[in-house]
Amino acid sequence: MKLKIGVIKGDGIGPEVVNEAMKVLDKVGVVYGHEFDYTQLLMGGASIDTYGVPLTDETIELAKNSDAVLLGSIGGDAKTSPWYKLEPSKRPEAGLLKIRKALNLFANLRPAVLYDELKGACPLKEEITEGGFDMMIMRELTGGLYFGERSTEEKNGVLTATDSLTYTEDEIRRIAKRGFDIAMKRRKKVTSVDKANVLDSSRLWRKVVEEVAKDYPEVTLEHMLVDNCAMQLVKNPRQFDVILTENMFGDILSDEASMMTGSIGMLASASLNETKFGMYEPSGGSAPDIAGKGIANPIATILSAAMMLRFSFDLDQEADAIENAVENVLKDGYRTIDIMSEGKVQIGTAEMGNKICSYITK
Ligand code: NAD
Ligand code: IPM
Ligand code: MN
Repeated sequence: MKLKIGVIKGDGIGPEVVNEAMKVLDKVGVVYGHEFDYTQLLMGGASIDTYGVPLTDETIELAKNSDAVLLGSIGGDAKTSPWYKLEPSKRPEAGLLKIRKALNLFANLRPAVLYDELKGACPLKEEITEGGFDMMIMRELTGGLYFGERSTEEKNGVLTATDSLTYTEDEIRRIAKRGFDIAMKRRKKVTSVDKANVLDSSRLWRKVVEEVAKDYPEVTLEHMLVDNCAMQLVKNPRQFDVILTENMFGDILSDEASMMTGSIGMLASASLNETKFGMYEPSGGSAPDIAGKGIANPIATILSAAMMLRFSFDLDQEADAIENAVENVLKDGYRTIDIMSEGKVQIGTAEMGNKICSYITK
C-alpha cells in the first residue's frame, strides 16, 4: 500500500522525535510491504521563519491532500524566542489551532497507559499503580475557550482581558458519540468530566452527553466534576476507562495523566475528524529546555505513528508491531532520561528509535 503522509517536524525537539517515528514507519514499510511517501510541511516557528506566518493556506491544502499528518510539536521558549514578540495570532501556537480547525479535528484521543516496565518511573505509590491503568482521554479539540471570542481592552483606565467558552449542542454531540463508540470497543465506561456546578457550557455538556448515552445502553456513564477528576486520577486511576471532556479540561488532565505513565514523553495522541483522516502527534510540547541535546523521548511520537496506522490506514497488525516493539525495548531495560530509573540502561533519542526498529517483526 502506498500512503501519503504530511510531515510537520515543527520546532524544538519536534524534528528529533519525528525523525525516529519516520525511521520506525520505514521499518514497518520494509517488513510489511508498504510505501510511505512523506511531504515535509512547515508550521509554527519554522513556518514563521520561512513565510512570516505560523501556517500558510498552501500548507493546509497539502495537509488536506495527504492521507494523514504526522506532527512533532511547535513553539519555543516564551522568554527568549523572537516568535513571542509577535502578536498572539502570529505566534507558533496559532498555527496549531488553525490547522486543527481547518481540518475539523474535533476528537483528540490521548491514551494514558502505565506499562508494567515503567512502574519505577511513575511518581505514584506502588499500592496505587499495582495492576496498572489504561485510560483513553477524549478531548474535544475545536471548541471551548480555545476558539471563543477573545479581547484585551482598557475599560475605565483598567486593562480587561476576556476569553469566552462556547459550545453548541452539535459540537458536544459529535465528540460524545465518538467517546461512546470508543468505549464500546474498550471496557464500556465513560466518565464525562465537566464543571456543571458553575458553568452553563458544562450544564449543556452534561445534558447532551446524557442524551447520547441513551443510544449506548451497554455503556456505563458517570459524571465527574473536573476538580474531583484531577484528584481521582492520582488517587485511583484504575477507575477510568474513557474520560470525555472539553478542550481545556482535556489539555490539563492529559498532562497530569501523562506523568502518571512515567513522562509526558510517553503520551501519544490522535486528532480525528469525521473521516479516516487524522493528525498524529505527541501530547507534549517542543521542550525547548532539552532541544538539540539528543535526549528527548521519541516514544510518544512513535506510538502516535502507530495510532496513525490503526485509525487512518486500518493497519492493525502493523500498529500492534510498533506497540509490541516499544514494550519489548522497555522490558529489555532501555530508557531515555525522562523515564530512567535504577538499574536501567540510559540511551538517547536516536538509539531509542533504532532499538524500537530492531524489534519490528512480522
Ligand atoms: P513541554 O511539553 O514542551 O515541556 C514540559 C517539560 O516536559 C519540559 O521539562 C520538557 O523537557 C519535558 N518534555 C516534553 N516532551 C518531552 C520528551 N519527549 N522527552 C523528554 N522530556 C520531555 O511544555 P512547555 O515547556 O510548557 O512548552 C514548551 C513549548 O511547547 C511552548 O511553546 C508550548 O506552547 C509548546 N507546546 C506545543 C505543543 C504541540 O505542538 N502540540 C504541545 C504543548 C506545548
Ligand atoms: C497541546 C498543547 C496545545 C494545546 C497548545 C500548544 C496550543 O498544549 O496540544 O496539548 O493547548 O492544545
Ligand atoms: Mn497541552
